[in-house]
Amino acid sequence: MRNKITIIGAGNVGATAAHWAATRGLGDVVLLDVVEGVPQGKALDLLQSGPVDGFSYSVKGSNDYKDSADSDVVIITAGLARKPGMSRDDLLAKNVAIVKSCAEEAVKHSPDCVLIVVTNPIDAMVYTAFKVSGLPENRVVGMAGVLDSARYRTFLAETLGVSPKDVNAMVMGIHGDNMLPLVRLANVAGVPVTDLLSEDELDKIVFRTQKGGMEIVNHLKTGSAYYTPGLAAIEMAEAILHDSKRVLPCAAYLKGEFGISGCFLGVPVVLGENGVERIVEFALTALEKEALLESETAVRKQMEETGL
Ligand code: NAI
Ligand code: 2OP
Repeated sequence: MRNKITIIGAGNVGATAAHWAATRGLGDVVLLDVVEGVPQGKALDLLQSGPVDGFSYSVKGSNDYKDSADSDVVIITAGLARKPGMSRDDLLAKNVAIVKSCAEEAVKHSPDCVLIVVTNPIDAMVYTAFKVSGLPENRVVGMAGVLDSARYRTFLAETLGVSPKDVNAMVMGIHGDNMLPLVRLANVAGVPVTDLLSEDELDKIVFRTQKGGMEIVNHLKTGSAYYTPGLAAIEMAEAILHDSKRVLPCAAYLKGEFGISGCFLGVPVVLGENGVERIVEFALTALEKEALLESETAVRKQMEETGL
């Protein structure tokens, strides 16, 4: 059977995600937006790359949720993006209303879908989608950790002069300045990075990772990153659609794991056909635990601001 993926928001992240979904042959893609013409134009353009790229799935642009019916995965990228000087939190009030309407409509037409939320501030938006969608917590998941970890791996690989493919490293916690790039567990083909880099070099990489989104905003000036965010969302969608049980850092609903309950936070999860199949819990050091609790505090403040 053909899989169906709906991507809500045909802006930079949404259109890029559609591109990755098509070229990876994930299934039929619906690109949906409130602006008339934009999803249709982008989808048609992407569809026409099929003969050259070799994919044979459909790509449809739409302003109508009926076209999203029976999607296996719905990715929400709709909302405002950051401009220079704006924090992810500045987006909160406007994006709560947008994500609420998108999640409600999406689930009306695809009651069995897994929802992947990308819109910022992600940890509060995934909570918003969970609250209004009525979906069980395993079917609502946020994308940030795959992106932040990719940035972390890139900076480690650059500094070490090795292929990023061989760098294993993970970022946990909030998608914000308090995120927690784990240094202790980062390694190159199994060799701890703490054996290869100085404390000062590692501190610089951690700091650059934490500010990674703003570094790109400051270059672009008119918006935020989209190539890696789009791919990161599709990496998660692929793990769900192929039931591949990938272990990826995602914003998942915690029920006591890492000593935290009742909020979404970036943690390693097993992704499969049921969405978040399991959270991979492990022992944190006292300092890591403290950093994760700082993330929790920041996320709970955002959750309160959603009014949900
Ligand atoms: P964009 O401005 O290029 O695209 C947003 C799209 O959403 C626009 O096409 C707009 O018309 C559409 N939209 C607005 N309201 C809508 C609604 N009610 N229904 C359907 N579509 C609607 O922005 P971009 O760069 O694509 O970013 C989208 C969101 O993703 C932002 O909130 C951004 O901060 C976030 N983001 C999150 C990341 C993460 O790691 N979680 C990484 C990168 C971006
Ligand atoms: C990023 O980290 C803006 O959250 C987005 O690039």
